[in-house]
Amino acid sequence: MKNIKAIIFDAYGTLFDVNSAAEKCKDKIGSKWESFSNYWRTTQLEYTWLRSLMKRHKDFWKITEDSLDKSMKVFNINPNMKSELLDLYKILSPYPEVKGTLQLLKEKNYKLSILSNGTPSLLNELVSSNNLKVFDDIFSVEEVGVFKPDSKVYDIPVKKYKIEKHEVAFLSANTWDVSGGGNYGFNAIWVNRNNIIFDNLDYSPKNQINNLKHLLDII
Ligand code: LAC
Repeated sequence: MKNIKAIIFDAYGTLFDVNSAAEKCKDKIGSKWESFSNYWRTTQLEYTWLRSLMKRHKDFWKITEDSLDKSMKVFNINPNMKSELLDLYKILSPYPEVKGTLQLLKEKNYKLSILSNGTPSLLNELVSSNNLKVFDDIFSVEEVGVFKPDSKVYDIPVKKYKIEKHEVAFLSANTWDVSGGGNYGFNAIWVNRNNIIFDNLDYSPKNQINNLKHLLDII
């Protein structure tokens, strides 16, 4: 991959493990914790897409809570667990290789940033609670009031850095976000952590890695 000027990361599911909140409560939730967590994530994403289409933006934290309310009802989870799950969502754990890889990229002097649906305060708290202070910028969709994959979101770093789209390496584990960034014109790299099938949305990422460490081999 040549002439990359900025490496931009999606946050949820790419740097931070969205299942880690429910996993930390698995003794209380029981064996359904993982199905519940996947349902919560899917509902949360659906709400972002639906709100963008309806032009009824609400920030990602409120959507996380709205989708949790529905998911707890569907999975019959004791309502008094809500605040514990939300507090844990604010301090999601990074995947094991994230910190070391970011340090190595930083030493190579790449511009590193996050581009996420999260609010600025959520993203800042995730970065600081996990001691990942390597980013030049943390870009939030709140700047444009619409969620990914609206092209206004992917425009944010291009405008800020005054660079060409193809000078961006954009990493996401979310297939739809790889399609969004790739269709937009980024060099999108799919972090395929669980060996799943890619989408049919008229974009195939040229690069696929199964964890962030392998970025160092292709960049
Ligand atoms: C984000 C979601 C898509 O961080 O994971 O933007």
